[in-house]
Amino acid sequence: MELGLASKRILVTGGSSGIGEAIVRLLSAEGAKVGINFGHHPGPAESLAAEIGASGGEAITIPADVADPEAVAGMFGKMDGTWGGTDILINNAGIDGKHALAWEADPEEWRKVIEVNLFGAFHCAREALKRMVPRGEGVILNITSVHEEIAWSGYSAYCAAKAGVGILSKTLAQEAAPHGIRVLSLAPGAIKTPINRSVWNEPEGMRDLLEKIPMNRMGEAEEIARMAAVLVSDIGSYATGTTVFVDGGMTDYPDFAHGG
Ligand code: BGC
Repeated sequence: MELGLASKRILVTGGSSGIGEAIVRLLSAEGAKVGINFGHHPGPAESLAAEIGASGGEAITIPADVADPEAVAGMFGKMDGTWGGTDILINNAGIDGKHALAWEADPEEWRKVIEVNLFGAFHCAREALKRMVPRGEGVILNITSVHEEIAWSGYSAYCAAKAGVGILSKTLAQEAAPHGIRVLSLAPGAIKTPINRSVWNEPEGMRDLLEKIPMNRMGEAEEIARMAAVLVSDIGSYATGTTVFVDGGMTDYPDFAHGG
């Protein structure tokens, strides 16, 4: 089965580390032209693009804070200027924010998490759809989280944002389906990336985490990248307006493996 992603123009936000980086690597290996967005640190994005270029692929780096609508418009302008458009958008950029119970949380920190995760996905989807609707084709994949569904004490902004992105995907899917565009979400569980290093770096944190995962291991970024590639390819041609969970069973109520 061919993914058929060769020469597709794909923008991956937050594409220089963790899950985003794995997605960029896999799509480039499939022959896609990839825009690697990053927020603040150009170094990792530039070396990734150089590595892809050296192995015969095509990648560009695009700085933009996804929470800033003007910067997002500029980012799509760069895709237009370089390759004449964007066929597929993968909204991956995200932050989980500082742990804080709601009554201790700083409203500005809370706002920042919503702005990056939820507004960021909206601003990017909006610019993508402006271009995709007249062409009558395109795919938008939003990377959410198991916390689209599972409450997580201390991370109310993150959970609210991810749940928001889940229903945003469904709503945009409804709006865009008549125009030949698919919009859906991929919800990873605990994937070993820099965002959760403090947990997997420490034996007690790891033990606690594994109890929450029926498959008894963390996922690898590559396992998310493979599902992302399938969902944005024509293999996923009938999937829209839904969330695909790739979480080793984390959303399968592992506590109910016994008792009840
Ligand atoms: C978070 C990770 C966490 C995982 C499972 C993800 O959305 O970014 O830090 O390990 O959810 O709780």
